[in-house]
Amino acid sequence: MKAQIIDGKVYAKTYRETLKTEVDALVQQGVQPGLAVVLVGEDPASQTYVNGKIKACEETGIYSKAFRLQSDIAESELLALVEELNQDPNIHGILVQLPLPAHINEDAVIDAISKEKDVDGFHPVSVGNLSIGKETFLPCTPHGVIKLIESTGLGIAGKHAVIVGRSNIVGKPVAMLLLQKNATVTICHSRTKDLGEMTRQADILIVAVGVAHLIKKEHVKEGAVVIDVGMNRVDGKLTGDVLFDEVAEVASYITPVPGGVGPMTITMLMQNTLTAAKRISVN
Ligand code: GUN
Repeated sequence: MKAQIIDGKVYAKTYRETLKTEVDALVQQGVQPGLAVVLVGEDPASQTYVNGKIKACEETGIYSKAFRLQSDIAESELLALVEELNQDPNIHGILVQLPLPAHINEDAVIDAISKEKDVDGFHPVSVGNLSIGKETFLPCTPHGVIKLIESTGLGIAGKHAVIVGRSNIVGKPVAMLLLQKNATVTICHSRTKDLGEMTRQADILIVAVGVAHLIKKEHVKEGAVVIDVGMNRVDGKLTGDVLFDEVAEVASYITPVPGGVGPMTITMLMQNTLTAAKRISVN
């Protein structure tokens, strides 16, 4: 294997230790950052994510309150809960785990979250601020991706970053962040004509489509930095969008799944919750 592994687990652990020190300092000033996590229904993957978020709060000294709601809850009831949390002085960040059941309008729920408490960075105002380069809550997975790329020390400015996937949660915001860092950015998706021709141009390749092992050795330029955001279950095993063993023979750096981007997503959520608490309470 040629590539160096970018160890998200180790990076996240160190980052959380620093966060804990900052949280403790804020607690000394009489403010404990608080995060509300709302889960609707029993989707197993969502349950795992939510449990991970609660655990990370415990680790970093952040107060957390979990709301586990029945899948048939009325939209109006969920909106009322969000409104109550908007007003709750002990809660600085609100996260509603997606996806929501089909009978609930996701956009309406995201719109209802106070933009001061939008620690996911999904509110249209946060998305708009990101796209015009104003300070805002950065969405957690894209922010974690940038931190991992920067951890290689290779730099982003002037590099050609190719992103596979155009979701609102990862592809689009990560493109915005890379553009702000002066990369040349290409976004590919399911209708891209020749994916390999595009991905082979990448100095930095980010893959976030949710198709196991889509990206193989022949898609990757020698020496590229490869970030795998995929989380797929294959025969019960968690696996990424990149065929790791093969691609690691040509890449310079690569993230594993699990243990790459995943731990960083939750860590950036803790960061945003701390930032929200500072903004709301310390004046
Ligand atoms: N579902 C998948 N990823 C996320 C995320 O980062 N935040 C929320 N709220 N839901 C998700």
